Amino acid sequence: VSETRSEYPLWELLNRPSTFGRADLRAVRARGTEVLFSDGCWRQCGTSGLWNVNLGYGNARIADAIRAALLDASYFTLFRAGHEPAVAASRALLEVSGAEHFGRVAHTTSGGSANDLVMKVARQYFALERQYRRRIIVGLKDSYHGLTYGSHGLSGSPLAQSYYSVDQRWIRHVSHEDPDELSELLEVEGDTVAAVVVEPVLGTGAHPLSAAMVTALLRQRARYGFLLVADEVATGFGRTGQFFASQAWPDPPDILIASKGMTNGTCAAAAVMVSHQVSEVFDRHNAALIHAETQAGTPPTCAAILETISEMERLAVLDRVTGTIRQLDQLLAGLADHPLVTGTGGVGCFRALRLGTPAGPLPENAVNGVVTMIREAGGLVSAGPGCIQLAPALTISRESLDRLGQSVRAGLDRSAERLVDLKGAR
Ligand SMILES: Cc1ncc(COP(=O)(O)O)c(C=O)c1O
Repeated sequence: VSETRSEYPLWELLNRPSTFGRADLRAVRARGTEVLFSDGCWRQCGTSGLWNVNLGYGNARIADAIRAALLDASYFTLFRAGHEPAVAASRALLEVSGAEHFGRVAHTTSGGSANDLVMKVARQYFALERQYRRRIIVGLKDSYHGLTYGSHGLSGSPLAQSYYSVDQRWIRHVSHEDPDELSELLEVEGDTVAAVVVEPVLGTGAHPLSAAMVTALLRQRARYGFLLVADEVATGFGRTGQFFASQAWPDPPDILIASKGMTNGTCAAAAVMVSHQVSEVFDRHNAALIHAETQAGTPPTCAAILETISEMERLAVLDRVTGTIRQLDQLLAGLADHPLVTGTGGVGCFRALRLGTPAGPLPENAVNGVVTMIREAGGLVSAGPGCIQLAPALTISRESLDRLGQSVRAGLDRSAERLVDLKGAR
């Protein structure tokens, strides 16, 4: 890296300036499931970009579809208007989410803005129904819904919300493990809750909601009448082995959010699918929803959505992914005896390897150290609380997943040696 820090032009978000510009973190090019970095190393991607490049980098059919749309209809707005590519993409999204239950789609540019839109929909839905007191949105502790001001407030992970004066007056958080916390909250505030928003698998740490928690959410919805929202920004588009993770629930949510895998990481896109029942209330009152984004649902984005869905079908991704999941099971089981590994977690292609020593779970800086060691050994994984997370492409080849597993083991071995060295030096 030749620039001094003051010359480095890029604000690397969520990083401290002292770490800006690291060559091993500066991506240059990607192909299939491998990424080339500025330090000249190709690394095996175990993160699918940011859990969004579910079909691997450089999918030619998706690229061709985007190019064709750019030439055919470079831009149409969704402000007070529709356009044919958005109608087609919306129809396809309803088909994969379940058109018998979901009836309308709103397009935004990110998971965070989709969560903002959902909070508006829920509050407006109840205002239209003359239930003006229903304004509270309940999220889960340790959840992540994005970093726009609204979704930042809904996120239950500590992310400097009060430092940034994020308004959480109308937000509550309950445990994702203990259904009693939700019951207790509803007993006190149930008639003021507009929506409960949950990730079917909490991305931070890859914690799936238990069957008991899902049952409790559905039972409480029937009792208290709030809207149940599945934030499937990360879990949608096959990540957990089904098109949407909430399709395994006994009953569907009222609102479903998709984003990450929806364009295979090629366009800034998110979609909010609402049930027929929700859209009927807006229809009955002929009510406009005040949310729109200039760059949301553009023709190239809609072409990317359509082509990604058709690639999922053409490549039989939901069939093939069972093989990837089985191999991941074996990979994780094979690491279970490692001295730094205390357990595994997650589902499908959304997994975690829990790390610790007899002193307890590995602290954040030590987990980051493990991620760096794995990176040095040629693999890309992400850091979670007391764990590393693996979310490879659903279509990753056997050989590539083997190589990823080898780099994870090599990184863990090197980390364990270093921890022993550190202890010795103390
Ligand atoms: C469940 C969930 N919701 C929302 C978001 C935010 O998405 P975006 O980064 O597109 O705003 C994420 C991103 O990781 C997510 O995992």
